[in-house]
This record gives sequence, C-alpha cells and structure tokens, in this order.
Amino acid sequence: MTANLRTTLKLLAPHVRPYLGILGLVLALGALGASAQRGIFLLLTPTWEVLFPADPVALGSLGAAGQAQELVGGGGLGAMRDGLMRAVLGAEVVPADPDARLAMLFRVGALIAAISVLAAVVHYFFLYLARWAALRMVVSLRVSLARHLMGLSLRYHGERKFGDLLSRISADVSTTLNIVNNTLTELVQEPLLAVASLAFAFLIAPEATLLVAVGLPILAWSIGLLARKVRKGSVRSHTTLGASVQALSQMFQGVRTVKAFGAEERELERYREMNEGYVRATMRMVRALAFTNAWTILYSHVGLAILLVVVGVFTIKSGLFQHDGDMLTFFMLISGVYSNIKRTARAVTRANEAVGASQRLQEVLDEVPEITEGSAAIAIEPGKALQAGVELRDVSFTYAGSAAPALADINLHIKPGETLALVGHSGSGKSTLMDLVARFIDPTAGSILVGGHDLRELSLDSWCAAYAMVGQDPFLFHTTIAENIEYGRPGAGEAEVAAAARMANIHEFIAELPEGYQTNVADAGTRLSGGQKQRITIARALLKEAPLLLLDEATSALDPLAEAAVQEALERLMANHTVLVIAHRLSTIRNADRIVVLEEGRIVEQGSHADLLARGGVYAGLQETQLQS
Ligand SMILES: Nc1ncnc2c1ncn2[C@@H]1O[C@H](COP(=O)(O)OP(=O)(O)OP(=O)(O)O)[C@@H](O)[C@H]1O
Ligand SMILES: [Mg+2]
Repeated sequence: MTANLRTTLKLLAPHVRPYLGILGLVLALGALGASAQRGIFLLLTPTWEVLFPADPVALGSLGAAGQAQELVGGGGLGAMRDGLMRAVLGAEVVPADPDARLAMLFRVGALIAAISVLAAVVHYFFLYLARWAALRMVVSLRVSLARHLMGLSLRYHGERKFGDLLSRISADVSTTLNIVNNTLTELVQEPLLAVASLAFAFLIAPEATLLVAVGLPILAWSIGLLARKVRKGSVRSHTTLGASVQALSQMFQGVRTVKAFGAEERELERYREMNEGYVRATMRMVRALAFTNAWTILYSHVGLAILLVVVGVFTIKSGLFQHDGDMLTFFMLISGVYSNIKRTARAVTRANEAVGASQRLQEVLDEVPEITEGSAAIAIEPGKALQAGVELRDVSFTYAGSAAPALADINLHIKPGETLALVGHSGSGKSTLMDLVARFIDPTAGSILVGGHDLRELSLDSWCAAYAMVGQDPFLFHTTIAENIEYGRPGAGEAEVAAAARMANIHEFIAELPEGYQTNVADAGTRLSGGQKQRITIARALLKEAPLLLLDEATSALDPLAEAAVQEALERLMANHTVLVIAHRLSTIRNADRIVVLEEGRIVEQGSHADLLARGGVYAGLQETQLQS
C-alpha cells in the first residue's frame, strides 16, 4: 500500500511544492473551521443549563461516583465546565429570575451565531483555496505530462495509442487530482472535525471518549484493507476507459474508411463492447467502494449503540455522567465523529482510486526520451552545419525488438547543394535513413557528421533549425492557411508568407478563396485536395529557409495537373537547397544529382539515372515496376 501511495506522492510532489504555503494555510483554516463547527456543540451544555437549571441537591447524591470532580454552583462536572459557564453565561450560577435566564439564553444564541459566522467565513476560504490549489496542480501536471510526451521519440508515439494517451492526460489526471481536489478537502476537513470532536468530548467525559477512541483504529484498519481493492479496480477501470477512448478516436480518424466499407455498425458494436468492459471493470471497483461505505456505516452505528449501552450502564451504576446536558453534548460530538470517519473513509477509498490512476501516469513519465542532448550540446549556425554537407559513417540501425537491422553499414556523403534521391523497394530502409538524418532516431552503430560534429553533440534546436521537412502525408493544423504556412517561421510577415506560397505554386489558388489566406482549412466547403495540401506544406518548408531539405515524396499519385504544380514547386525548392529526397517519381529522380539505391538496408547502387539504367541492376528493375513516370 505504501509503495503505491509513494507513487502518487512522487508524481504529485513537483506540482504540490509551489503550493505548499497555500496548503499550509488550507490546513490551518481547516483546523480553525473544524474547531469552530464543533465548538458550537460545547455551547449546548450552558444552554441546557439555562433552560433546565440543575438541582444541586440531586446532583450532590450522585457525587459519590468516584470521579474527582469538583461541583460548582449550578451543578456540573468540573473546572472546564466551570470556565465554560463563566465564559458563555457570564456567571457560574444560573439565577432563578426568568428575565435573567432569557438574557442568558440570548447571550448564548448570539455567541452561537457569531461562531457560526466565523465557521462559515473560514470554510469559504478553506474550500476556495483548496480547490484553487488543486486546479493549479491539475494544470501543472497536465502540462508537464504533455511536455514529457512531446519529448519522447517518434517510435514511442508510433507505438502508443493516441486515444489511450488522451485518456491518460484527461481522465487519469482528473482522477489523480481527486486526491487533492474533492478528497483533499475531505481528507483534511473530516479528520480535523473528528479530532476536534474527540478533543471536546474528552474535556466533557474522558473515559467514555477513550472507549470511542479504542474502536477507531479497528475501523481504520478494515477500511485500509478494502481500499486496496478499490485501487486495483481503479487501474483496471482506467485501462479499459483508455481502450474505449482509443477505439473511439480510431473510429473517427478513419471515418472515411469506416463509411466506405459500410462498417459503421461493426465499429459501433466494437465500441459498445469496449464500454461493456469498462462498465464491468468499473463496477468491480464500485462494489468495493460501496462495500467499504456500507461497512463503515454498520460499524459506526453498531458502535454507537454499544457506546450508548456502555455509557448508559456506567451512568446508572456509577454516575459516569452526572448531568443530562453533558451527556447530550457528548453524544452529539461522538455521533459527529462517526460521520466524520465515514467521510474520511470515503475520501481514503477515493484517494486509492487516485493512486490507481497515478500509476498509469507514472508509467508515461517513466518513459525515457531516447533523443536527448548532452549537457555540453553545441549550438551551430544552420548555414555552418551544412557547409560540408551531411556524412553518414558506417551507420547501422536496428529497431528495438527486431532481429535484422533496418540499415547496415551505410556510408554516404550528402554534399552541400546536392539533390540526393533515395530509391528502393518498400521496406528497404529509406524512411529509416531520413529519420536518422532528422535525428528522430540515433544510429545503433556508426555516426552522422555535420559541420565537423557528431549529430548527437549538437543541440536539438540548432539541428532542427538546419533542416525543413516535407512529409509523405501533408499535415495541416486546424487553423488558417496563413498560420499553417507561418508555422515554418513564426513571426514571418504576410508578404513573406505570400512569397513562399508563390514559390510553392499555391498563391493563386489561395488568393481566389473568398477569405484568402484567412481561410480556415478545417472549414467545410474549403476541403483542400491532396495536391493543394502538399503545396501548402511545401510553402511552410520554404518559409523556414533551412539549408537542408528532407522530402518524403507522396506515393499516392496526383492528377497530372496537380502533379505538375507540385513538381514545379519542388523543383524550385531543390534548386537552392541541399536535398535528401525519398523519390517515387521519375521526374524527381531525373532532377536529382545522384541516386542512391537501397536494398534490405544496404546501399547497392548509386549514380545518375542514365548510369543506373545502363547497369541493368536493382534500379533498372525498380524502374520497370515501381517508379511512376
Ligand atoms: N518502428 C519500427 N519498428 C520496427 N521495425 C520497423 C519500424 N519502422 C520500420 N521498421 C522496419 O524497418 C525496415 C525499413 O523500414 P522503412 O520504413 O525505413 O522502409 P521504407 O524504405 O521507408 O519503406 P516504404 O517505401 O514502404 O516507406 C522495414 O523492414 C520495416 O519493417
Ligand atoms: Mg517509407
């Protein structure tokens, strides 16, 4: 149990630390509020006294109870009561005069009202600050999770299910922060109320209070046992929730495919089944939760009955309570203790839900980023980095978990200003090679040299600034076209954006749209074609003005007109950059200065288009079957 609670504490610690001061204040307010709320009960005794002034004679006969309690004027238990009477009523003896008694009653009423106002104000700030701190912590945890995830490699994201991550960042964080949110308020408030009640009860009747206190550890222990079940259930519940969010996100991401295959019902059925799994897992936890609460109620009520009988017996036999008002106050306080314990138990079980959820978050945070920069990372000018091109020396790469290397003993020098085309069968390692150059992955052997440095020695930012990348599937953010292009160089002006669009052969098209550059690409009615999207991403890359261009040509064919437009844009791009292109089109390849042919992770041929054709090797074979004219 403690090991797991430690997980939660470790997870929360960095986010709690900035708010420790506030939390201390919350704790103090909670204690003050609890004392005020429970202190009101103490005023019952004087009230009782005013309404039913005790008969000192009757009390005197019970005085032989064996308790060393000094009787005072109005009858009663002791010095504490004595003081209380004086403080509240302004006298130790209740006068017989009805008017004087009424005045005393109003005095007590006013005092209760005053304490209530204090309790209410304190409670307001207690809740306000507790929730405020909790919300701040949620946000801080979410942001740091997102930041951590961003730093993880593409491989991690490739394997990871997007929906599951989404569910972790939203649902699991919320559940985890229950421990400081709803639960913090309860976990602080309720035990404090219980302690305040017990303390006040102890002042009135020490023996009886000790009797109550003996029963509490047993209750706490049994709740701890049940809480473990809740925790296990919580992990299962959140895991299945993650799976169902995953199913949902897949379903909508692939909505075209789903509809095209008329698979809506099948998908919905699958989603329904996943939700069934979620219900089953959650209900297991709910059963444990409900059982815990029911057990607490049973224990506390039976406990109250036993206490009533025991206290009653002692009161009858030996005058444990010598005064009805005291006994009333005592039971008011003690019954309060049990409901505080009940709510504390509920908070503890909820906190265990949080522990379950935080385990899943810790898993994410424990994932170590593969691509890191050393403490002495070198920052280098983009132009300088590319001065001598990019050199791969004996580079090999093997994906984790696969036996054969995806790339083996690659020696390749991409010269400055050169356009180098990579070709090869599917699975030959082209994308892997490009990922290495982009430093999405690091070689398992050998090294990549730029500007006289190993790529791993450079700061991530400075290498990133040295290249622009155009991917196979153009990705646009759900915002305006202008912003999508500007992404290449934040802060670029309108004129520069338009110039890049012109170079990318897309300016005319954008200018004709009713809203021009301010058109939102997500708006209905402005669905862009594949070729248009591609040219927007090319404009984005152009705007970045990085010396090295990494280009993964789309395999899907565009219609000849769009194709020509994209081709023209690419040619402009290639003219003044060092380019590494995964080429599928003959036109691109013809424009390349050099063609490198990959086969099963090795370079098998290189040269110009004409040379390679003449050779009649792998390239000539590819030419016939794969490359598009
Ligand atoms: N994330 C991965 N984990 C394990 N193996 C991978 C991973 N990505 C690629 N591979 C394997 O590495 C080899 C090279 O893949 P790569 O994606 O580089 O090929 P490619 O030449 O780009 O193919 P295509 O033309 O189809 O895009 C393949 O055998 C592939 O199965
Ligand atoms: Mg590929």
